[in-house]
Amino acid sequence: MKEQLAQIKKRAMDELGACQTVKELEDLRVKVLGKKGELTGILKQMGKLSAEERPVIGQLANEVRQELEGKIEEFKAALKEKQLAEQLASERLDVTMPGRPFELGSMHPLSLVLEEIEEIFLGMGFNIAEGPEVEYDYYNFEALNLPKDHPARDTQDTFYITDNILLRTQTSPVQVRVMEKQKPPIRVISPGRVYRSDAVDATHSPVFHQIEGLIVDKGVTMADLKGTLEIFAKRLYGEDAKTRFRPHHFPFTEPSAEMDTQCFACGGEGCRLCKGEGWIELLGCGMVHPKVLKNCGIDPEVYSGFAFGMGLERVVMRRFGIDDLRLFFENDLRFLKQF
Ligand code: DAH
Repeated sequence: MKEQLAQIKKRAMDELGACQTVKELEDLRVKVLGKKGELTGILKQMGKLSAEERPVIGQLANEVRQELEGKIEEFKAALKEKQLAEQLASERLDVTMPGRPFELGSMHPLSLVLEEIEEIFLGMGFNIAEGPEVEYDYYNFEALNLPKDHPARDTQDTFYITDNILLRTQTSPVQVRVMEKQKPPIRVISPGRVYRSDAVDATHSPVFHQIEGLIVDKGVTMADLKGTLEIFAKRLYGEDAKTRFRPHHFPFTEPSAEMDTQCFACGGEGCRLCKGEGWIELLGCGMVHPKVLKNCGIDPEVYSGFAFGMGLERVVMRRFGIDDLRLFFENDLRFLKQF
């Protein structure tokens, strides 16, 4: 039995040296010292021994147990320390290292010019109003005096979501929302995205941007409209910029007009930019139709107003000589980095 004990001890010691992990150590402990362990097996056979031998072997067995237990604990502690040291080394963070450089973006050309236009109107006492892009038929059409059979309502142009909900085709519905909420005097511009069911090409996109304008007060006349929009054109294109108004038709204004600016590229002589016309169409405008005022709870006998709307992409394309609308939406850095 003495020999058996010595063997158990020797084997355990050898195996101990090969243990790499805490789990392996624990397995070894169970195998040798556990309830069904090798050492325990020896102790169970003690009954076979004589009364003299029993205490001797018992003591020896206890010594082996204590020694092994101590060694296993010692190895465990050393392993844990080693693991911790390894972990600390692998998670080491050098706080003195320089940060990773990141590229600074730049303003999108549409935002650049929009901001410029906003500044011009803010300087003339306008506020900025916004409205939803998912809009009711009522605001986009009905309240703006667009009768049910108007061609602009054709499903070819409009993305309908339900019978009476759609993606706004113009920023004009914001006029109605502002007039419903606010009493005159009103002086707002309203920039935003609009949607039309157009196939994509160099001059068409199903999403683009408009800037709407609206003034309502007592005694507002067509002269105010012309004066305001001429000043706007001069601020945008320079003091020499010339403008002209042509009669037009919009359902929500009466009378209606379109304003052109003399081509700033050729000075009116006719060139590629203005397609030989000498003039470039900038915006639609007119005196707010009395029916629209009435729809919004404003008395057309007391108040009058003017409105205008322009496409942002067109203005930006002319400004930078961009000949393809798709460039605005492709987000190609080679394009965007030029602004
Ligand atoms: N909403 C018009 C369009 O999309 C543009 C427009 C014209 C707006 C005349 C106006 C306006 O406010 O008075 O074509």
